[in-house]
Amino acid sequence: MQCKILTIGDVCGRAGLDILRRRLWSLRKFYGVDFVVANGENAAGNGITPAQARELFDAGADVITLGNHGLHKREIAAFLDDEPYIVRPANWPGSAPGIGSTIYDTAKTRICVINLIGRVDIGFGAASPFETVDALLEKNRSKADVFVVDFHAEATSEKCAMAYHLDGRAGVLFGTHTHVQTADERIFPGGLGFITDLGMTGASDSVIGVKWEQSLAYFRGDMLVRFEESARAPRIQGALFTVEEDGRCTAVERVSVE
Ligand SMILES: [Fe+2]
Repeated sequence: MQCKILTIGDVCGRAGLDILRRRLWSLRKFYGVDFVVANGENAAGNGITPAQARELFDAGADVITLGNHGLHKREIAAFLDDEPYIVRPANWPGSAPGIGSTIYDTAKTRICVINLIGRVDIGFGAASPFETVDALLEKNRSKADVFVVDFHAEATSEKCAMAYHLDGRAGVLFGTHTHVQTADERIFPGGLGFITDLGMTGASDSVIGVKWEQSLAYFRGDMLVRFEESARAPRIQGALFTVEEDGRCTAVERVSVE
């Protein structure tokens, strides 16, 4: 049975949480979505609190993924150990709290979500995401029907290389972290649906979520300030993947709604 998977780009601050609370359930209905995965590592600007994670679940996210800022809010550590549907990069050191993959049963299918972090200008000290994902695919092959991977990485090249690595073995691969949506969604010959970066869910009138005046001043060298989130012109960005019973993706489209 066909399955529609909505993937939500980095949820950024209060603006991101609020627009999801207002719009996500109606978007689920509109697109006939069976499963939602959202990257939540910027829900608090840097990091995510347990209350914000619960807010994301209530808004309609089934699984939350994280990234380089995943542990910035210390109180999230115990939550990661207790909550099965929030995952942090699987290739983080073994001492990290939480889990790097999870399996979610929808009414139609069993979906394995794997979170990885890149190693180019991000994720220093992380194990190879390529070897890590191989081991997780092997371990979960008989436990899930569809494999969905969030590769939280800076370099477009590293994310694209991962697509070639996973084609034929996973159904969905999306990149997160840059907060800028790429226009390169495609389906690989082996049935992998891919987009380099989902973009950002938060204030579109901003510099990747931050008040643009502060970011501009920073880059001009005028001042060093603690960045504040922008709330202007909120927008949801992500991608919608259609996956068949055999786990292969047959359609992918970008989503960007205000
Ligand atoms: Fe990030």
